Amino acid sequence: MSPIDVHLEALTGSGPTGRAGLQGCAPPELPPGRRTFYIETFGCQMNVHDSEKVAGVLAGRGYQQVESPGAAAVVFYNTCSIREKAAQKVFSRLGDLKPHLHEGQNEEKIIGVLGCVAQQEGEEIFERAPWVSLVCGSASYRNLPELLAELEAGNRRVTGLATDTDETFETEMTRRDNPYRAYLTIIEGCDKACSYCVVPFTRGPERSRASGSVLEEVHRLAGAGYSEIQLLGQTVNSYRDPAARMSFAGLLAAVAEAPGIRRVRFTTSHPRDFGRDIVEAIESIPALCDHVHLPVQSGSTRILRAMQRTYTREEYLEKIALINSARRAISVTSDIIVGFPGETEEDFEQTLSLLDAAQFDGVFAFVYSPRPNTTALGMDQQVPEPEKARRLAVVLQRQREIQMARNLALVGDRFEVLVDGVSRRPGQWAGRTSSNRILNFASSGPGLLGQYVQVRVTGASPNSLVGEHVV
Ligand code: 5AD
Ligand code: SF4
Repeated sequence: MSPIDVHLEALTGSGPTGRAGLQGCAPPELPPGRRTFYIETFGCQMNVHDSEKVAGVLAGRGYQQVESPGAAAVVFYNTCSIREKAAQKVFSRLGDLKPHLHEGQNEEKIIGVLGCVAQQEGEEIFERAPWVSLVCGSASYRNLPELLAELEAGNRRVTGLATDTDETFETEMTRRDNPYRAYLTIIEGCDKACSYCVVPFTRGPERSRASGSVLEEVHRLAGAGYSEIQLLGQTVNSYRDPAARMSFAGLLAAVAEAPGIRRVRFTTSHPRDFGRDIVEAIESIPALCDHVHLPVQSGSTRILRAMQRTYTREEYLEKIALINSARRAISVTSDIIVGFPGETEEDFEQTLSLLDAAQFDGVFAFVYSPRPNTTALGMDQQVPEPEKARRLAVVLQRQREIQMARNLALVGDRFEVLVDGVSRRPGQWAGRTSSNRILNFASSGPGLLGQYVQVRVTGASPNSLVGEHVV
């Protein structure tokens, strides 16, 4: 899973063909009265994409998306519980809605909590926020149409909390928010049992989507004008085709071969299941992006064992060596947790030295957050908060220096960039390289959005590059 610990407001956007980013049949006529919804998403890319699918289901029932909860008849929060702070945010959002409800303005409003907090807290959410009408975890999104029908029929408390389903959530209609990059979930849930992590509890066991169905959707997306596909899964490379037709590396190759697809990304990879066949696929297929997100979590084998990560420091560094041996440079990014219970200064030093050895191009670093149900919750030797904060700052500073040096080394190089944004300054554009680096560049060329252009790097900072358009 992508580790982006930001919250993303659901964007309204249009597809690359210029029409609204809805895949599938046309939405039915809006019935009388306002059928409007607002959805706000917290957490990872899996959640962002789930929200796109939920928005598709709602659009299919005649709901229109609006930009503020105040203007919406249905308000959904798609929540994240990976760390305590993320989980708290939803209750603060629900609290914000309460005064309006007291003023009697929003008696008809349907408020729903989706995602990991919904799965984790279950019906207790109704106790804490009785104005909530729907609580539904990601493994139950298949039932959303029925749950919505119940709400529309006047039922005020509906839940979807099963995790034992073997279905993945695919829908006829997905409202895609990014006009250039289409997300596609190929594996749901997680069967690893990292001792700090709630995901196996909130998203349930691993379920892969059949390769034939994945490829059908890829072809549809390419036909709709998307040129970049990002395959998603908490442990995307643990993918096991239920039809037993292809391996994960085989699926990567097949997706990359679809006509019209120019870039294929995948995230998040688990080191245990990361093998040579994936590196060979990236080496030989230009459309497979030269970037791997491979969370290490800690540089200390002792802590990795306590985390139940199933690899040692040395085994992880062997994977890095394998990636670095590829004929094509492959960028690696990672996740780090500092302050896991029992992490000594010496363990922490090992994490710092791993940063030096691995030379990541990006790191998402977090302080350990104790989570319900996890085995780490009951562990002794919790690290005090101020010490966790200190270690986080040290990791971030060390990694900043590494990235600065690595990015400076790219000055003078030329990259193909998919232009996906404009800067406030006229003539300035933003794009991403295949290795997922942000490259801001100057060009007098008009209308570059959505195009692939060549850019020469002229400057660097730790988190991005600057350059000029090469025509
Ligand atoms: N505390 C802190 N960080 C966590 N992550 C997962 N669980 C926790 C936790 N309890 C981090 C891991 C993971 C990323 C998505 O979030 O680094 O890779
Ligand atoms: Fe959580 Fe570990 Fe599964 Fe990643 S692999 S989702 S960290 S349990």
